[in-house]
Amino acid sequence: MAYVLEARHLDKYFEQPVRFHVLKDISLSVNRGEFVSIMGKSGCGKSTLLYILSTMDTDYTGELYLAGKKVTGQSREQLAHIRNKRIGFVFQFHYLLPEFTVLKNVMLPGLKLGEKSTEEVREDAMAKLRLLGVDDQAHKKAARLSGGQKQRVSIARALINDPEIIMGDEPTGNLDSKNSENVFQVFRDLSVSRSLSLLVVTHDEDFARRTDRIIEMGDGMILGGGHAPAPAS
Ligand SMILES: Nc1ncnc2c1ncn2[C@@H]1O[C@H](COP(=O)(O)OP(=O)(O)O)[C@@H](O)[C@H]1O
Ligand SMILES: [Mg+2]
Repeated sequence: MAYVLEARHLDKYFEQPVRFHVLKDISLSVNRGEFVSIMGKSGCGKSTLLYILSTMDTDYTGELYLAGKKVTGQSREQLAHIRNKRIGFVFQFHYLLPEFTVLKNVMLPGLKLGEKSTEEVREDAMAKLRLLGVDDQAHKKAARLSGGQKQRVSIARALINDPEIIMGDEPTGNLDSKNSENVFQVFRDLSVSRSLSLLVVTHDEDFARRTDRIIEMGDGMILGGGHAPAPAS
């Protein structure tokens, strides 16, 4: 069995305004069902790394593998497909479409993937909303929800295509402690009950301490915790 996610020797430079070595020889791995956090000072390269790991940024050297398959060097279309099918995203600011209903927001990545009928995608979306305890909000416009509800809907949306991994960039950064705890519990439940992998950037020490592993970053490097235990064969 391969790692769900593996990065080998990633390097990245920004060229503007001056050449800057933002990621330095980054190697890491994440196992199936692992709940992993990434911590490090502001500006150390966490978001830049997550963009690469999520296949959105292809301007790097080194190699990236998802479920044992090399994704580095694949075409833009292939990457869009891999991303939509295998990776879910949850950000600090939810990026729901405010004028669309909650249900429609959750359905959209499923419709885009195009593997199921609209009716099936609708049923799946309702099931995800039920899992997150916000199915009663399905027909409201997203703009009308509270911050905590929006984040649950974002998680439902991230799950719609049954990804192997969810990546989050400070998914609780905009939430109060009660809603942060709620998101933590949802992630924990998903990692245990569905063997979903989670890779979450956070500033919250209390949140990070309760994940399975903390990847410590500093100055574009991994300082510790980068590697998963060898996957079961
Ligand atoms: N598009 C860009 N062009 C040039 N420099 C950037 C760009 N994006 C981020 N940076 C710089 O790269 C470093 C890492 O940024 P980032 O990955 O956002 O850090 P973090 O998420 O850990 O706070 C910072 O010094 C930031 O100013
Ligand atoms: Mg960041």
